[in-house]
Amino acid sequence: MASFIHLNDGNQLPWIAFGTGTALYGRDATESVLRAIDNGFIHIDTAETYGNEASVGRAIKLSGKPRSELYITTKLGKLQQPGETVRSALLTSLKKLNLDYVDSYLVHNPARHPGRLQQIWKEMEEVKREGLAKSIGVSNFYVEHLEEVLSVATIIPAVNQIELHPYVWKSAKPTIAFDKEHGIVTSSFSGLSPIVRFPGGPVDAAIKQIRARLEKTRGAPVSDAQVLIKWLKQNGILVVTTSSKAERIREYLDTINVPDLTEEEMKLIEAKGAELHRKAFVSLLPAYL
Ligand SMILES: NC(=O)c1ccc[n+]([C@@H]2O[C@H](COP(=O)([O-])OP(=O)(O)OC[C@H]3O[C@@H](n4cnc5c(N)ncnc54)[C@H](OP(=O)(O)O)[C@@H]3O)[C@@H](O)[C@H]2O)c1
Repeated sequence: MASFIHLNDGNQLPWIAFGTGTALYGRDATESVLRAIDNGFIHIDTAETYGNEASVGRAIKLSGKPRSELYITTKLGKLQQPGETVRSALLTSLKKLNLDYVDSYLVHNPARHPGRLQQIWKEMEEVKREGLAKSIGVSNFYVEHLEEVLSVATIIPAVNQIELHPYVWKSAKPTIAFDKEHGIVTSSFSGLSPIVRFPGGPVDAAIKQIRARLEKTRGAPVSDAQVLIKWLKQNGILVVTTSSKAERIREYLDTINVPDLTEEEMKLIEAKGAELHRKAFVSLLPAYL
């Protein structure tokens, strides 16, 4: 069952995306993306920096799915060559992806464009106007970067994709609040970090307790990952995750069928997460480690 998040520009994106960074960074993603699509994912998240857009394009073609039924996000990397623009970078990505347009195009990281964020954003607006990207947004942007962009923007970013899980929730709160205030959808990567990268932390017991309650209510198994994904979704966050396994891919998508967490359970995860600060991805922005 598809479920969508509405964006501030009138478009929509599926609530969960299959990512081709991290585990697939610099690697051919054809098989993984094909497996994800075959098992129900319709939203794929890639980036120029991941070095695998061409393989994502191959998987899209091999899937046989009509373009209109898929949602593709890619991201602007560092502009390397003299004369390279946002438009030329996106055209290169589109060529690799074998697509005419992407559904969302994000500025991958503000640290890759020092002193040029406003110019970059004006160019992002142009590629949206031209229809090369249906929606435009940002990634790894915190309040100061968003303010810099908004001061010149005629199109507000639709999405801000940041590292988001209970162990960074407290520090990300000002950004999440800023996003909300401006109608920007916050999207998460690294959402499973408490169980994948930092097991043994204070959130573990809360996950176990909530999982047991949900299994009882549902009368069917619920996984730790589903508890975390449900927590993000109920907070209005677009989830970007990944897996090499068909079973887990189906499990992620099945989160939609898991009963809601209660308000107390939502708060419990947040409170336990606030006891520990752990960031999975070393930021290019020293102030946000
Ligand atoms: N914008 C950015 O700067 C940025 C940065 C990082 C990532 N991203 C995007 O976000 C996507 C997802 O990132 P992520 O890898 O950090 O996502 P994640 O959802 O935190 O982790 C996914 C990983 O968790 C593993 N996993 C899931 N359940 C597990 C369990 N119960 N036990 C052990 N391992 C488990 C999966 O491994 P299996 O293969 O074994 O299932 C998979 O490799 C990336 O691919 C990329 O597209 C964006």
